[in-house]
Amino acid sequence: MDSKTLRQKFIQFFVERGHKQVPSASLIPEDQSVLFTTAGMQQFKKFYTSPEAAPAKNVVTVQPCFRTSDIEEVGDNTHLTFFEMLGNFSFGGYFKKETIEMGYEFLTKELEIDPKRIYCSVFKGDEINPRDEESVEILEKMGLTYKEHSREDNFWGPTGEEGPCGPTVEFYVDNIEIWNLVFNEYYKEKSGKYRNLETKGVDTGMGLERMLVVVNKAENVFHTDLFDLPHKKLHQFLKKEDSFDERIILDHIKAAVFAINDDVRPSNKDRGYIVRRLIRRAIVKGNQIGIVENFIKKIAEEVFETYKGIYQFDQKMIQDELEKEETKFRNTLSNGLKEFEKQKQNLTGEIAFNLYQTYGFPWEMTAELAEENKINVDRKDFEKAFEKHQELSRTASAGMFKGGLADGGEMETKYHTATHLLLASLRQVLGPDVYQKGSNITAERLRFDFNWPEKLTDEQIKKVEDLVNVQIKKDLPVQMQEMTLEEAKESGAMGVFENKYGDKVKVYSIGDFSQELCGGPHVKSTGELGHFKITKEESSSAGIRRIKAILE
Ligand code: ALA
Repeated sequence: MDSKTLRQKFIQFFVERGHKQVPSASLIPEDQSVLFTTAGMQQFKKFYTSPEAAPAKNVVTVQPCFRTSDIEEVGDNTHLTFFEMLGNFSFGGYFKKETIEMGYEFLTKELEIDPKRIYCSVFKGDEINPRDEESVEILEKMGLTYKEHSREDNFWGPTGEEGPCGPTVEFYVDNIEIWNLVFNEYYKEKSGKYRNLETKGVDTGMGLERMLVVVNKAENVFHTDLFDLPHKKLHQFLKKEDSFDERIILDHIKAAVFAINDDVRPSNKDRGYIVRRLIRRAIVKGNQIGIVENFIKKIAEEVFETYKGIYQFDQKMIQDELEKEETKFRNTLSNGLKEFEKQKQNLTGEIAFNLYQTYGFPWEMTAELAEENKINVDRKDFEKAFEKHQELSRTASAGMFKGGLADGGEMETKYHTATHLLLASLRQVLGPDVYQKGSNITAERLRFDFNWPEKLTDEQIKKVEDLVNVQIKKDLPVQMQEMTLEEAKESGAMGVFENKYGDKVKVYSIGDFSQELCGGPHVKSTGELGHFKITKEESSSAGIRRIKAILE
């Protein structure tokens, strides 16, 4: 089955069942609290509280989505930066029973998926929101297999600081999560309080590319008709096949094409910076498999062709932007890579900054090259160098650090402080032998690695989360003190004590709760952070656990 057929079947199925088809929204959401459209429900968010304003009680869409939070997973079998989400929605028309029944019917009757390949998951409840008894009962009556999962998997929303949210039922086929059915029965207030929504709503999202994998029993999302043409074209350029690099290149170019089409130009700020990063990373990956001439706009042509009749493209504008960006970057790429090779043994923040300023290497790219070479370079050192130069030329780079490199600097600052709270909490719950082994922050989440031999229990996760949230509620002041490395050590501050920080170091204290050596920046007091939630706890490598967490 090709993508056109699957889109059509989905729309038709729900139109026949009383849904109005609504056009997709731009990748740039109206709601400015998020950078990109990441789900079908975003354009409908307001209708869950004002259903009378909705275009119809029940609607169906195909929504292009752009997710940068998954960027590190891109290259595996199921994750993409750009993907399409098929969704049916209801604002007071129907609720759980109909949603689950229609979903199951679509999968088994319309797509003829063998029920043996399907299982569901359902929200098991916690002290904030109860178990989803209603869905459990429906699934049992239907004779479906289900697992009970916690909040991180089976509770959706809100997007942004406040909004509709609720438990979900998810359909899995061959262990691939393919369809998320969200039952918006709560509204989460800015204060963190959940109230019941007057009108209960439905929001579902099925990944088109994943569904194609499942229907066609394909190997992965790159082996679908949505990548065939660009993939063929790419093979004309490369000298060396490498499926992983190829996947990243194809993903990034497609995402850049769609973002530019929605008027995001490559730049050093916000969305533009993300698009620039995607294009430049595609070029570097291409370079590694022998592509030395401009190729991006040629791949873009095949993206246009792939989506002909589905989406309209401002083709010339997109190709011009891509060509301009590629030419500019290629002019400095090989010199930049040479410089990297020369300096990599003593890669400092200054050098990373120079690679950025002189050769156009986004920080993330330098960090990635460093990782491939098993070299450590600390983002904080890069930021320090960045700040220093910013002071020297305020106007030239104003705004770049905040809105650009930090992808929304304010959120990053908050995550930075949350990371300190997390480490201190982990040490309280698990003991003082726990240390930071890695940290990575984006505007969407924090990621934190620490030494621990086994999976954390639900109870431990909960304790850590609660401990962080208690510190946030206390609105503890965050204070910075400069001292010598010796003084810092004596004061018991946590941190990396190799003397790369120089003689004088900054120590950030959060009340009496945490004391860490750090370059900053941080919020003024913890109350600014909102609510802290651990969304994932997994193994990172032997003896190292990885936590992902968000502030909401
Ligand atoms: N909004 C839900 C999601 O994106 C359907 O998973």
